[in-house]
Amino acid sequence: MDPAAARPAVVIDSGTGYTKMGFAGNVEPCFIVPSVVAVNESFLNQSKNSSKANWLAQHNAGVMADLDFFIGDEALAKSRSSSTYNLSYPIRKGQVYNWDAMERFWQQCMFNYLRCDPEDHYFLLTESPLTAPESREYTGEIMFETFNVPGLYIAVNSVLALAAGYTTSKCEMTGVVVDIGDGASHIVPVADGYVIGSSIRSIPIAGKDVTLFVHQLMKERGENVPPEDSFEVARKVKEMYCYTCSDIVKEFNKHDREPGKYLKNWKGIKPKTGAPYSCDIGYERFLGPEVFFNPEIYSSEFTTPLPTVIDRCIQSAPIDTRRALYKNIVLSGGSTMFKDFHRRLQRDLKKIVDARILASEARLGGEIKSHPVEVNVISHPIQRFAVWFGGSVLASTPEFFAACHTKAEYDEYGASICRTNPVFKGMY
Ligand SMILES: Nc1ncnc2c1ncn2[C@@H]1O[C@H](COP(=O)(O)OP(=O)(O)OP(=O)(O)O)[C@@H](O)[C@H]1O
Ligand SMILES: [Mg+2]
Repeated sequence: MDPAAARPAVVIDSGTGYTKMGFAGNVEPCFIVPSVVAVNESFLNQSKNSSKANWLAQHNAGVMADLDFFIGDEALAKSRSSSTYNLSYPIRKGQVYNWDAMERFWQQCMFNYLRCDPEDHYFLLTESPLTAPESREYTGEIMFETFNVPGLYIAVNSVLALAAGYTTSKCEMTGVVVDIGDGASHIVPVADGYVIGSSIRSIPIAGKDVTLFVHQLMKERGENVPPEDSFEVARKVKEMYCYTCSDIVKEFNKHDREPGKYLKNWKGIKPKTGAPYSCDIGYERFLGPEVFFNPEIYSSEFTTPLPTVIDRCIQSAPIDTRRALYKNIVLSGGSTMFKDFHRRLQRDLKKIVDARILASEARLGGEIKSHPVEVNVISHPIQRFAVWFGGSVLASTPEFFAACHTKAEYDEYGASICRTNPVFKGMY
């Protein structure tokens, strides 16, 4: 038996905002770090600018550039304290955008964070449901050639969120995953572990947009936040104080009637001068998450509410799967964690479904009654890293190791084998 298959697989879910990493079989990722790399630009420029004759200086600068970089919170701290480090975000809207930075990022994940030798472990990585097959080939090339991993499986993040199996004691592999992260929002129907590709829907609003909207509202009101810190404060305000309301008009009234109960206060220290400051947090508490239910308050280009998008997604799936899909709508991603988000989503979706049933009964003269459709939106505290957790569960089954592409297969057939990753037992 392959000795690497006896060790726990490494599971890395790299998202636009945060990367979750750890070992299969654990209930939580070992680290959740921002997906960002800080590279020392002075070495990079030196290696480009050195004359051909001075090849040694060029080589040394290249080596130093390869060594002198940071990821995650360390990268953010470095770029704040020194102007020689430039930040690079390898993932945008759920897709790898800068492969050089991605490789550096994975390198530090393995050696500095997880402290494992990649040659000793199988790897499970994740990708967005809309990732192109070529991107899987690049991932395969980096993993097998740079890191020499013995085996690799690239899973669709929504399938993993379903595999988290927290819906019932028995893991159900038919359902709709509503995955709203930092930079990408996808609604993905899955039947028996297979993604129904033609029914996937994406919406152009995700966590970063909610932060931008909260930021904009605070700025328009003239809150006293230092500009260099204002986006970060808006993100923290969003994560700590925002909630989903049931009715926006009633919520405005509630805030106006009892401001003392709803108004929050944010206290901070100005990074440049060290002087303390404070600001108020008001309507943005419920207006932030409202962008998913009434997107026109944020964007004039995209105005379809999330519950309508989910309904259209299920209606476009094969007819015999629809009832099962409505019954198991699973939330995943940090931006679904707003208080009462699942309640509002379930209520609005149920309204749409009930209205359609009533309309179709009326068309038939009211003589034939339809069976009610069960709508369930499932929420859970591990929503934030449901994708990682699903990966951890699947990568600890014996079938996982058989489903992985191995280094020997890669050497024989090339990177194209990474384009497809078979569904295996445990996924259905
Ligand atoms: N408690 C919370 N309430 C609301 N939003 C939150 C909370 N915690 C984190 N977030 C937001 O969730 C987002 C990060 O979620 P997640 O880690 O799922 O995204 P990602 O996987 O990095 O991105 P993507 O899946 O879009 O590529 C950020 O925008 C963050 O501000
Ligand atoms: Mg994600």
